[in-house]
Amino acid sequence: MEVFDEYESEVRGYIRSFPTVFDKAVGSELFDEDGRRYIDFFAGAGTLNYGHNPERAVEAQIQYLQDRRIAHGLDKATVAKKAFLETFIEKILEPRQMEYKLQFTGPTGTNCTEAAMKLARQATGRNLIVAFTNGYHGHTMGALAVTGNQAYRDESYGARGAVNFMPFDGFLGDMDTLYIFERYLDDKGSGLEAPAAVIVETVQGEGGINVASSAWLQGLEKLCRKHGILLIVDDIQVGNGRTGKFFSFEEAGIRPDLICLSKSIGGGNPMAVLLINPEVDVWSPGEHTGTFRGNSLAFVAAKELIDQYWSDDHLTQEVYRKSEIVLETLRGLRDEFPQLNSRVKGRGLVVGIETPIDGFAAEVSAAAFERMLISETCGADGHVNKLFVALTIEDDILREGLDIFADVFREVARKHA
Ligand SMILES: Cc1ncc(COP(=O)(O)O)c(C=O)c1O
Repeated sequence: MEVFDEYESEVRGYIRSFPTVFDKAVGSELFDEDGRRYIDFFAGAGTLNYGHNPERAVEAQIQYLQDRRIAHGLDKATVAKKAFLETFIEKILEPRQMEYKLQFTGPTGTNCTEAAMKLARQATGRNLIVAFTNGYHGHTMGALAVTGNQAYRDESYGARGAVNFMPFDGFLGDMDTLYIFERYLDDKGSGLEAPAAVIVETVQGEGGINVASSAWLQGLEKLCRKHGILLIVDDIQVGNGRTGKFFSFEEAGIRPDLICLSKSIGGGNPMAVLLINPEVDVWSPGEHTGTFRGNSLAFVAAKELIDQYWSDDHLTQEVYRKSEIVLETLRGLRDEFPQLNSRVKGRGLVVGIETPIDGFAAEVSAAAFERMLISETCGADGHVNKLFVALTIEDDILREGLDIFADVFREVARKHA
């Protein structure tokens, strides 16, 4: 690890939690440079929903490179982009009666959320964005302004104006948090300007696996419509089938104006797409530009993966089935150690267990790594052990990983009991 310790910036993060030099990876298994095998319960924080190096996508990319097809195209028309667009429209948008334009932003999630907020401001002529407590939307300055976790925010970064936070569903226990937002919007004395948009995750991944109910999301949509506010759903982490259906908001039946997609869409390649209600598409040509929009290899992989996994609802059913397996283990641990006051959280395969003891979840995650299981923690206080498996994980690997997780959870729990 010396070269990393000596030359890589202090900013490095995951390398500290998982200190080994990774080399190969297939599906839900990773191998380090010494050939040691690790089970992946992290899935690149939602980037590897289809596992590492999914076979069909890899084969298609190899062929694409071998044939010397266009690798870098800015936002020019390419055969790879055309094939992706046609497949995405046919397999994802049309079956859901969704009419959206696609914008390929710079290839990170944060660039996509930036683009969504800029466009919402332009389209409405308003400035304010409303974000929610414990939201996470990325680390460029606009995206950071709507990210709640104090650990990422620093006064020295300068102004983060034109953003207001409102309580997310469940933030105030059983209280209807939308009522507060509604009062602020309705009362001219609240001090809240008319917002251009709200930006929301349906399940807050980094923020601690907080699930918004369908009723809350429907209420939010209604409030947005009433006040001419655009609804941005950030589906970067929990889209692409993570909650079962392709989009996380499908169960709630809402129609966001802007949808941010990234992470798993490119099957592990950098790629981000902003879906835009055509009425809101007020960009002039090249107005939100960037060198790496339209990553050909990502288009090739994305097309293959959508063809493979979204031509029917098999993957959705698999997510529901595997979710029950993970939840059963987590509920068992919660019930085994009632004194810890742990809570099982999540929906689909965005699941975790929250234990309100400082350092507990980090200890479990570190102990899991010792046993060759990679899993992370989340939440503003780092209280949640997040089990983020590939949607395609084989049952035997899933059970092997869950057994390891349960063992280390018990070990740490006994120390704290
Ligand atoms: C919901 C959400 N939005 C935005 C981002 C930022 O994406 P990126 O890290 O690719 O910039 C993330 C990353 O974890 C995310 O989970």
